[in-house]
Amino acid sequence: MAEYSTLGSVAVLQVNNPPVNSFSHHVRQALVDGLERAQRDPAVRSIVIMGKGRTFPAGADIREFGSGAAVKMPNLLMVLQAVDTCQKPVVSAIHGTALGGGFELALASHYRLAVPSARMGLPEVHLGILPGAGGTQRLPRVVGVKTAIQMITSGQHIKAQQALSLGIVDKIVQGDLLKEAVSFARSVEGRPVEDRRISQKTVPEADKVDEVVEAARKTILRKARGAIAPMTCVQAIQASVLPFEAGMAREAELMAFLMTSWQAPAQQYAFFSEREVRRWSHPRDKRINFKTAKPRVVKSVGVVGAGTMGMGITINLLQAGLKVVMLEVNKKQLDKAVNTIKKTLSQKSASQKMSQLTTAMDYSQLRDVDIVIEAVFENMRLKKEVFRKLDAVTKPQTILASNTSGLNIDEIAAVTKRPDKVVGTHFFAPANVMRLLENIYGRQTSPETVATAMQLGVTIGKVGVLVGNCPGFVGNRMLGSYTAEAVFLLEEGAEPQDVDRAIEEFGFPMGPFRMGDLSGTDIGWKGRIAKGLTTEHGPPPATPALYRRGNRYCPLPDMLCMKGRLGQKTGAGWYRYEPGSRTALPDPVVLQMIQDYRQEHGFKKRTISSQEIVERCLYPLINEGFHILDEGIAARSLDIDVIYLFGYGWPRHTGGPMYYAERVIGLEKLLCSLETYSARYPDHAHLQPSPLLRNMVAKGGSLAALGTDSKL
Ligand code: CAA
Ligand code: NAI
Repeated sequence: MAEYSTLGSVAVLQVNNPPVNSFSHHVRQALVDGLERAQRDPAVRSIVIMGKGRTFPAGADIREFGSGAAVKMPNLLMVLQAVDTCQKPVVSAIHGTALGGGFELALASHYRLAVPSARMGLPEVHLGILPGAGGTQRLPRVVGVKTAIQMITSGQHIKAQQALSLGIVDKIVQGDLLKEAVSFARSVEGRPVEDRRISQKTVPEADKVDEVVEAARKTILRKARGAIAPMTCVQAIQASVLPFEAGMAREAELMAFLMTSWQAPAQQYAFFSEREVRRWSHPRDKRINFKTAKPRVVKSVGVVGAGTMGMGITINLLQAGLKVVMLEVNKKQLDKAVNTIKKTLSQKSASQKMSQLTTAMDYSQLRDVDIVIEAVFENMRLKKEVFRKLDAVTKPQTILASNTSGLNIDEIAAVTKRPDKVVGTHFFAPANVMRLLENIYGRQTSPETVATAMQLGVTIGKVGVLVGNCPGFVGNRMLGSYTAEAVFLLEEGAEPQDVDRAIEEFGFPMGPFRMGDLSGTDIGWKGRIAKGLTTEHGPPPATPALYRRGNRYCPLPDMLCMKGRLGQKTGAGWYRYEPGSRTALPDPVVLQMIQDYRQEHGFKKRTISSQEIVERCLYPLINEGFHILDEGIAARSLDIDVIYLFGYGWPRHTGGPMYYAERVIGLEKLLCSLETYSARYPDHAHLQPSPLLRNMVAKGGSLAALGTDSKL
């Protein structure tokens, strides 16, 4: 609702719809009623609109989308029209976040005030839609087309000070917002509102619009990676040079197009799933969940290993205000890490944050921390040695977490006397940037330990997802079948750049080979050596070249590593790199290596379509997701989707692998394709459809119904 009150000549409308004051139907109705009342009352000479509680309205009620409530009159356009055409000055007083429809309400008002901490923006593009309540028409009239394109296609929130310098906000007010807003409203009473109506202004430099759009087009398309909303936003902004009503009609037409596309519900699903993962439950025992398990308080953290991951994790922890003891065995590496951390922390607070960091080379210095995150080399023997030491030196209640990318948490826990306090906390590189935190519970991990790992994720701004223990956990296990199929495609005739192009056109930021070069081709190689699948010098003795333990195996990645081509760090991997450059250039040496291999093993090169590449790489990955659900390693399909959206660059506009499988491909079609491919390649185990998928197609089940995400 919107509470109506008067303070002398000022009518105050306070939106009260927690948690974010979104424009649910009852709020829209109350605003229209309030405005009418204020207009009718001769004692009222001005109107203030603000939000109660934590924020100015943060936009439309996304939960209403697709339901009758969203289109129930009055709609948001009618509310904003009533504000715009109100004969008494309307002042929007902003605190918290004025987003989407909320920011559009502010733009429809005659004056805008903001507190210094306020933020505002039009993030609709992230929901697969556009600012459809006049945002694409009013914002360019204030800031020009170029800035409007930048703000709307990025969905970025700007701070009050920037809004002031862009002319969006009229004044930044300190102190009590209500008091300030009422006093400001009084000061403008009686002034004509006509020249304050943004809708009646013209776009600055309107004659240059086509030029500006043309200049932005390429970058926007590249960044959109297949999402249709960004360029559609631009088309709407382009119409802002038309008379206001005509521009609004164009905006409505384009909004209808986006609202009915398959991408908008996918992106809205992603929005809610990102929040839903916080309501975790134990995949195998639903009685253990975010409500029943209480986290321990974490104030200090030990980080063991100050390499790539340990460094990133430490930055992340310090940024969140935690105390960190960073331990490393290599003094040179420790110094290097401290320097990098110092450089990365923002100038403003670097010294205060650095004062929270203690460095150590002696394990006893970890004695008082609340949790330790181990990030030493991916080697089971070493991890066990480290956990034994940690168990001996830390206080009994300290939680011991491993950042392993796929080793067995139970095996690590077994060397300690506190297996209930051992958990996996799998960060993604760069750890201070990537939002995903895959938390892995072991057989004996206690609910309290799980809850603490999940809570730590929230504290440090991560999107934490709880999963079970299996090789590679959820993310890397699913990735295994994707990378395996990518190299099988090379055998058959594709070149690395063909595979990468197809996957990037689908929407990933990088295809598997460019990704391999970035992270280092030796990461997988070391893993295969550790598993005895290969050696540093080729296949283990008496091993057939193309099979390992009964499964098809492609040794091309091992051959690449044996040539010393370890990726960008050695200047060559699947591609070659000019000194100092990260641009992947196809390399005749690699193409020849692949061609020789095909000849040696009797593969006949054929042309492989982009569609086949995408299906062959992504369908087995999704298929593995079904196995994971079947085994109870992930509780809900949305947990898998969030892992892929936040950790692996899966394109957000498709909702995530499991959403995409069900709502875009269709489970029946997915099954049919997997059956076709597995008939063609009977020895590619990951192409064999999962029993769960078969079952769901046969019985007509839905993924949402498998978990607790049925309300989405
Ligand atoms: N509609 C419905 N629910 C919303 C919502 C919205 N616009 N925005 C947030 N929520 C819900 C969240 O789902 C969450 O619910 P649960 O607690 O049940 O999970 C709750 O509000 C709190 O949200 P957050 O956990 O995200 O809280 P936060 O403090 O971290 O962030 C926020 C607050 C910055 C407002 C963030 O929620 C956000 O970015 N919201 C989306 C804003 C947005 O996209 N607005 C545009 C809407 S579309 C529109 O307005 C269309 C138009 O032009 C006509
Ligand atoms: P790294 O090689 O960059 O760093 C490991 C560090 O551990 C080195 O600095 C080494 O000196 C130190 N170390 C070795 N033994 C030690 C001991 N006994 N005590 C203290 N320090 C010791 O390795 P990276 O990449 O940071 O990986 C660490 C862990 O994180 C591994 O388990 C890896 O699988 C995992 N991981 C790595 C990711 C990546 O992209 N690099 C992503 C996610 C997880």
